[in-house]
Amino acid sequence: MSTALRVAIAGLGTVGAGTVSVLTEHRELIARRGGRPVDIVAVSAKNRAKERGVSLDAYDWYDDPVAMAREADVDLVLELIGGEAGPAKAVCDAAISAGRHVVTANKALLAIHGDALASAAETAGVSLNYEAAIAGGIPIVKALREGLTGNRVTRVYGILNGTCNYILTEMRENRLSFETVLAEAQNLGYAEAEPGVDVDGIDAAHKLALLASLAFGTRVDFAGVYTEGIRRIALEDIDYAEEFGFRIKLLGSARMTEHGLEQRVFPCMVSKDKPIAHVEDAYNAVVAHGDFVDDTMYEGRGAGAGPTASAVVADIVDVARGFAVATFGVPVGALADTAAVPIERHRGAYYIRLMVRDEPGVIANITAVFRDEAISIGSMLQRARSETEAVPVVLNTHVCEEAAMRRTLERIEALDSVVQQPTMIRIEPLN
Ligand SMILES: NC(=O)c1ccc[n+]([C@@H]2O[C@H](COP(=O)([O-])OP(=O)(O)OC[C@H]3O[C@@H](n4cnc5c(N)ncnc54)[C@H](OP(=O)(O)O)[C@@H]3O)[C@@H](O)[C@H]2O)c1
Repeated sequence: MSTALRVAIAGLGTVGAGTVSVLTEHRELIARRGGRPVDIVAVSAKNRAKERGVSLDAYDWYDDPVAMAREADVDLVLELIGGEAGPAKAVCDAAISAGRHVVTANKALLAIHGDALASAAETAGVSLNYEAAIAGGIPIVKALREGLTGNRVTRVYGILNGTCNYILTEMRENRLSFETVLAEAQNLGYAEAEPGVDVDGIDAAHKLALLASLAFGTRVDFAGVYTEGIRRIALEDIDYAEEFGFRIKLLGSARMTEHGLEQRVFPCMVSKDKPIAHVEDAYNAVVAHGDFVDDTMYEGRGAGAGPTASAVVADIVDVARGFAVATFGVPVGALADTAAVPIERHRGAYYIRLMVRDEPGVIANITAVFRDEAISIGSMLQRARSETEAVPVVLNTHVCEEAAMRRTLERIEALDSVVQQPTMIRIEPLN
C-alpha cells in the first residue's frame, strides 16, 4: 500500500473527537477505500487536560493550532475549531500557505471568506473540502458538485438548521411556546446558551450562501441572503397552519431568476403534501431541482459527532484518493457575480394573523387596506368573539408582491382596533 496520508486536527470538540473515533475505528476500511492509510499525526485544542472520550496519546500535541498547521509534517489539516475569524481562519490560511490540503466543517468561515480561501487553495494547488459544513451528515456538497453536475440546477432549498426544526416540531407536538421549548433545548444541550445564530436564521443563511454558490456557480454572497428566524412564531400560528393543511418550517431557499439570485431564509408554511413538511425533530433535508434530473431530496442528521465526522472523513478519503474538485464546483475566477434580488420583490401568498378589538367596522377597515394595495384575500377566519379581549383575525392572501404586503401591514398596524404587530408568514408553494 502507498504512503499514509498524514493528518493534523485543529479542534477536538464534538466534530474533532468524532473524527478521531471514525478514523481509528474504521482505519482498515478507510485505508482500503482511500488506497492508503490515514494517519493522525498531530492534534490541537485549547485545553490539553480535557477528557474527550478518545485517546490522543499517539499524536503530537500543539497548544497553538496555527503553529501546527504551519509546522507539523502533514499533508492535510482539519479545521474543526469553528468561528468566522480568529484561530479557525488563521489555521486555514497557514495550512494553505504551507501547501497542505484543508478540510473544514466551518460554514460561518466559508460563508464570509469562502471565495478568498478557495482562491488561495487554488493557487497553492490544494483541496478545500467542507462536506460537514452544510447539513452535517448529508452528502449534499458531493451531490451538487459531482452527482448533479450534468444539470442546470434551478432551485435548491432545505431545512438547514436542526435546532430550529427541533423547536418547531416540539412546539407543535407538545403544544409549547417557543420560549419554553428553547429553554428545554438549552438544558438538554441541543441549543446554545447564545441561541441567536440558530434561532435568528444566521446558521441556515451561512449554509444557504454555500449551497447557492455550489448550485449556480456564483460567488458566495452571504450578505445577499435575506434572513428571518423563528422567534416570532407563536403556537397559535402553528395551530392555524395545521388547520389550513400546512407545517411551519424554517427554510433556506435559493433560486436563480431573470432578475438575479434570490437567497432567503425565513419560516414559512409548506403544504403537508410535500415530503419536506414531514422532516421533523433535529433532522435536516435539502431538495435540489435539476433541469434533467427533476427534484432530488436528501435527508439525514445535520449535526452531532457521528454524522458530522462521517462527512469530514468522506472529505479526507477524497484527498487520500487524490480526487480533487474546485471548492465551489468551478474555479473561483469562473464564479459569476450575480445581483441579489431584494426581498421586497418576493412574490408569494401570505398568512396574516391580526389581533383586533372586536368592534363594528374592524373587518371593513382591514379589508379596505388590502383592497387599496390590490391584494386579494383567499380566506379569512375570525374565531372567538369577546367584548373585553383582543381576538384573532387570520387570513391567507393570493399571490402578491412583498413590497405591497409590507405597506399593507404598516397601515393595518396603525389602525386603532389592531392591538399588536401583525404576524406575517410566507406561504411557500415549493414549485
Ligand atoms: N457540532 C456539530 O454538530 C456540527 C455540525 C456541523 C458543523 N459543525 C462545525 O464544526 C466546527 C466545530 O464544531 P464543534 O461542535 O465540534 O465545536 P466544539 O465542540 O465547541 O469544539 C471546538 C474545538 O475547538 C477547540 N478550540 C477552540 N478555540 C481554540 C483555540 N484558540 N486553539 C485551539 N483549539 C481551540 C476547542 O478546544 P477545547 O475542547 O480544549 O475547548 C474544541 O476542542 C464548527 O465550525 C461548527 O460550526 C459542527
